[in-house]
Amino acid sequence: MALKQLAVLAALIASVASYGFPDCSVAPLKGNAVCDTSKDPITRATALINLFTIPELINNTDNASGGVARLGLPAYQWWSEALHGVAHSPGVTFNPSGAFNAATSFPQPNVLGAAFDDELIKQVADVISTEARAFNNVGQAGLDFWTPNINPYKDPRWGRGQETPGEDPFHLSHYVYNLIQGLQGGLDPKPYFKVAADCKHFAAYDMENWEGNVRYGFNAIVSQQDLSEYYLPPFQTCVRDAKVASVMCSYNAVNGLPSCASPFLLQTVLRDHWGFTDDRWVTSDCDAVGNVFSPHDFTATPAEAAAVSLKAGTDIDCGTTYGDNLMEAFNKSMITEAHLRKALTRQYASLVRLGYFDDASKQPFRQLGWSDVNTKAAQDLAHKAAVEGIVLLKNDGTLPLKRNVKKIAIVGAYANATNDLQGNYFGAAPFLISPLQAAQSAGFEVSYAFGTNYSTTDTSGFAGAVDVAKSADVIIFAGGIGETIEREEIDRTSITWPGNQLDLISELQQVGKPLVVVQFGGGQVDQTSLKASKSVNAILWAGYPGQSGGAALFDLLTGKAAPAGRLGTTQYPADYVNQVPMTDMTLRPSATNPGRTYKWYTGTPVFDFGFGLHYTTFSHSLSGRPSRIFSIQSLVTKARSAAHADLGTLDTFSVNVRNTGKVTSDYVALLFVSSKNGPAPHPNKELVSYTRLHDIAPGRSATASLEVTLGAISRADENGDKWLFPGTYTLTVDTPAVLKTTFTLIGSAVKIADWPRDTSA
Ligand SMILES: *[C@@H]1O[C@H](CO)[C@@H](O)[C@H](O)[C@H]1NC(C)=O
Ligand SMILES: *[C@@H]1O[C@H](CO)[C@@H](O)[C@H](O)[C@H]1NC(C)=O
Ligand SMILES: *[C@@H]1O[C@H](CO)[C@@H](O)[C@H](O)[C@H]1NC(C)=O
Ligand SMILES: *[C@@H]1O[C@H](CO)[C@@H](O)[C@H](O)[C@H]1NC(C)=O
Ligand SMILES: *[C@@H]1O[C@H](CO)[C@@H](O)[C@H](O)[C@H]1NC(C)=O
Repeated sequence: MALKQLAVLAALIASVASYGFPDCSVAPLKGNAVCDTSKDPITRATALINLFTIPELINNTDNASGGVARLGLPAYQWWSEALHGVAHSPGVTFNPSGAFNAATSFPQPNVLGAAFDDELIKQVADVISTEARAFNNVGQAGLDFWTPNINPYKDPRWGRGQETPGEDPFHLSHYVYNLIQGLQGGLDPKPYFKVAADCKHFAAYDMENWEGNVRYGFNAIVSQQDLSEYYLPPFQTCVRDAKVASVMCSYNAVNGLPSCASPFLLQTVLRDHWGFTDDRWVTSDCDAVGNVFSPHDFTATPAEAAAVSLKAGTDIDCGTTYGDNLMEAFNKSMITEAHLRKALTRQYASLVRLGYFDDASKQPFRQLGWSDVNTKAAQDLAHKAAVEGIVLLKNDGTLPLKRNVKKIAIVGAYANATNDLQGNYFGAAPFLISPLQAAQSAGFEVSYAFGTNYSTTDTSGFAGAVDVAKSADVIIFAGGIGETIEREEIDRTSITWPGNQLDLISELQQVGKPLVVVQFGGGQVDQTSLKASKSVNAILWAGYPGQSGGAALFDLLTGKAAPAGRLGTTQYPADYVNQVPMTDMTLRPSATNPGRTYKWYTGTPVFDFGFGLHYTTFSHSLSGRPSRIFSIQSLVTKARSAAHADLGTLDTFSVNVRNTGKVTSDYVALLFVSSKNGPAPHPNKELVSYTRLHDIAPGRSATASLEVTLGAISRADENGDKWLFPGTYTLTVDTPAVLKTTFTLIGSAVKIADWPRDTSA
């Protein structure tokens, strides 16, 4: 759903959305088993749903659920958003002023991901769910938030890549594991979920509209190997390990079956293989059930589209296809009463787990109010998250700015950006600190020029920009990618600097002053020429850094904070977009594909996944045994004590990191593995562990404990089954590598995880 439509919808339904809880202390609910807190959620929900008539069941299958007035069940809006803070959506209302007029606007996930800090993610999500509950308590948000987007950011053109932490499935899995705990209040929290989160878009969704291939009707052809190894690990972690309350099926089809009508995805993988229980539900992406009929042409009528989707396991239709057509489908015996009751039981069992039917006075979250929103701690956290996620890509010593720098010229479309710091799926922020405002607050004498916009050929602002640059000690160019070329329903067609920004940067280079280039936006742009040029002194990637983005940037520019973020995506040369179509879902290199992500790309990236510079230097050493040999058979035997063999531990590698420079700094320790074992072609390398070390003072050391699981070093065969293969493995720390060691697995290959067989395609 496009944001513009969202805003219209939000306005339309503001009066309809209602979050009064049903009252179990009075008739008609009083005495019904749904009110019996000694029973389990599914039993409670079943007792309630048994009272629904067929029309009442059908009246509760869409995102705007009618409730059942005669049973004391209010209407319910299932659709609220909170990607990086409570956000505009049909279920959320911000007051124009006064209480509940804003919620903390954290950086977009592309920046949160670049922090590589799992604890930070959990803290951010904890604040978001606190604010969400506060909004719910006054009837201005639901309890179900359709976040996060955890499709790996495989193609740099993807308009919604900004909503994700990056391209690496291992990284995404750790991100989502921590995020879901923060949102839901722990792993399977008792007695109540804080809010219900939703992992989307299941599955293999990473294209909006590429050369007329539109997400609503696209059929993604994906091998089982790639599903198992790349597209689905974040979902497996979200569902199986973090126990998310809901999942969203995607617009696209996978191997011929629209995702929302796919028994393989929604039953075999999700419920049978990953254990998604019947107190959890699946919603369609908005209008995706209607899309099963058109443009997928998968069924002859909308009623059939509704029937196949419901039977496949789509429990809620974000849309009206269910509400409009399930009665006909029922009359024509395309579905049974049992199909309806199952979907409704899953919904209401989830609401039971949110405390929906229980005594409000006994619930911890019912105490949360406006004073728990936009707290000083939340503001500090949003600021810290932006500092941690901004990445330094080039620096000749110009940064941090020296004390003798008094006059700054700040130029570009993001120089005075406020709303644009948020990216998409945002809410009303309490404040938005632009780079310009931050420069002034930092005490500089600042001159500002817009210069040029991010998608224009108009050069009328160039002369003014060059003018302000001439009188400054340092020039900051703050530009990048914007909403018109990169958002929902819009993929980029080019990954160079959009519009004529590079021309303006080139004129600024002629001025002969130190020049710092800051790139904002979702994706990467090809920085080849700026990276090579002596007249560009420093480059930073700032993504969409949220409400305190400008302040965080200036903390880094002035040295008040030290940069330690790392790229969550590969920065490709511009020609990459001509080498592989967006519709090609394969990952491995071939005659028509240079290979995707740092794992498979055969070319030379401009900046590698995981790259990021510091203001200090580090030395690294590996503690413990230098070379290790593991027996596969005994690793697997030992792993039986883990819930799943892939979660069993290979070993924990300790890397000692010493700050050998002059500036206190964080350091992200990234551990990669590479090997020639298992099926060819082999990935270049794969991230297998990471951690962020904080505040290492000059002369001091810190230890990164890098646990490596069996799953992380396993490889998928063509069926998607995962194996441990014997042979030598090389471990490297950081990119480019600063340390190298090897380990050897001996014995015969062992399968550690089965992948279900798709018999439907
Ligand atoms: C469906 O829900 C709406 C809103 O609560 C209500 O007005 C309508 O009567 C309901 N219809 C049925 C069949 O229950
Ligand atoms: C979601 O709910 C709103 C009403 O709250 C409704 O107008 C809309 O049609 C529903 N679905 C979609 C896809 O917007
Ligand atoms: C379904 O059948 C009932 C009972 O025969 C009838 O009243 C109703 O109009 C039918 N609805 C649809 C949409 O076919
Ligand atoms: C910067 O943007 C704000 C609004 O976001 C505006 O009020 C202000 O005038 C702008 N500053 C300059 C120097 O253009
Ligand atoms: C820059 O471009 C965007 C998108 O076209 C537009 O909304 C915005 O108003 C432009 N800004 C200026 C200052 O021209």
